[in-house]
Amino acid sequence: MSDKIEVLISKEEVENRIQEMADQITKDYAGKTVHLIGILKGSVFFLCELAKRIDLPVTMDFIGTSSYGDGTESSGIVKFSKDLDDSIEGKECIVVEDILDSGRTLSYVMGVLAGRKPASLKIITLLDKPDRRVVPVELDMTGFVIPDKFIVGYGLDYAQKYRNLPYIGVIE
Ligand code: IMP
Ligand code: MG
Repeated sequence: MSDKIEVLISKEEVENRIQEMADQITKDYAGKTVHLIGILKGSVFFLCELAKRIDLPVTMDFIGTSSYGDGTESSGIVKFSKDLDDSIEGKECIVVEDILDSGRTLSYVMGVLAGRKPASLKIITLLDKPDRRVVPVELDMTGFVIPDKFIVGYGLDYAQKYRNLPYIGVIE
């Protein structure tokens, strides 16, 4: 049985917005190397599309996170399932996330990374669901603010499916 998916943000809209954000990063970090840190796996599609459009030297690394819980609601206890490969000391870091929901994941990640002496540490997220926030997180750049709906596509999954949809959709 397949799920019915309605387009919320089209491929063109997503890609135009990613271009705008990449242009902003190119301006803000002129003369520097940008170190993108993706949170696996959801941010991978967004990170690649963003990286291709940044007109500066770009390096990248990835972390994996998991949270303990009963499956539907996370307990709020987050841990790294995969740490970064390289040190971030002295680097201009931008954490790249697919969606900010409760804020638990990003708040934990930022706390850990801030202690590792980066030159700078910012956050960019493709989507933000502010209605669901439990832990406050200060975002530096947001693609789209969306209502409290379950989203798939552009890296976001439902039971590991639909990450490869080239648009952002809602499961009906
Ligand atoms: P947070 O710790 O609650 O902010 O969780 C963020 C993570 O939950 C994201 O990185 C996603 O992997 C996942 N997530 C939150 N909302 C959605 C959604 O609507 N669709 C798919 N995954 C989601
Ligand atoms: Mg994620």
